[in-house]
Amino acid sequence: MSKTVNLTIDDKQVSAQEGEMLLWVALENDIYIPHLCAMKDYTPYAACRLCFVEVEGKKAPVTSCTQPVYENMVVHTRSERVDELVKKGFELIMSNHHLDCKNCPGNKNCELQKIAKARKLPLKPKKLIQQVNEELPIDDSMDKIVYDPRKCVLCGKCITACKENGNGILNFAHRGIDRVITTFGNISLKEAGCLDCGACAEVCPVGARSIKE
Ligand code: SF4
Ligand code: SF4
Ligand code: FES
Repeated sequence: MSKTVNLTIDDKQVSAQEGEMLLWVALENDIYIPHLCAMKDYTPYAACRLCFVEVEGKKAPVTSCTQPVYENMVVHTRSERVDELVKKGFELIMSNHHLDCKNCPGNKNCELQKIAKARKLPLKPKKLIQQVNEELPIDDSMDKIVYDPRKCVLCGKCITACKENGNGILNFAHRGIDRVITTFGNISLKEAGCLDCGACAEVCPVGARSIKE
């Protein structure tokens, strides 16, 4: 049986079940930590590198989605080191992002916009070298779902959602800046047997997978 532990996050006393991941404990207590890839109740794989915090007693910042809470833990969600790591990680993501909020289905319901606002970071940093592959085609083969890979932040959530609720047709392909989420054989969603269930769009934190208007 798990036991209740008490900890401090940004001077706020909170309690949680021992072993819970710090990210969820913070969010449940209205303390915002940037995050893109974590899914509650699933094993975290820490891909986005945005949820860093400082834990007293630890030499380096840790990712809060992989950090279990414990009794008397003291956490700081902001520090010079944390802010710098989040800024760098965010810039990296935005360098590979087709930014067009006005015409995006994710507009006003987008984790990138939320992170930018919370951390006062520009969505389009001045010195950014854009590396978006504008050639990547939009997959509009389904009646309900549409996928724009140029807006994908590679969080991997749609892969999990498709495995759990759909036909398990999505996965990562390629490496480095060519990395993309696609179907086996890089065929359209329709050809791959997509069920059009919408589970992928539901978990997508940005406007990459969405339900058509
Ligand atoms: S995914 Fe978010 S940041 Fe990107 S274009 Fe859409 S609304 Fe803007
Ligand atoms: S399509 Fe959306 S949910 Fe899937 S990896 Fe890209 S950003 Fe994440
Ligand atoms: S939410 Fe922790 S690394 Fe993405």
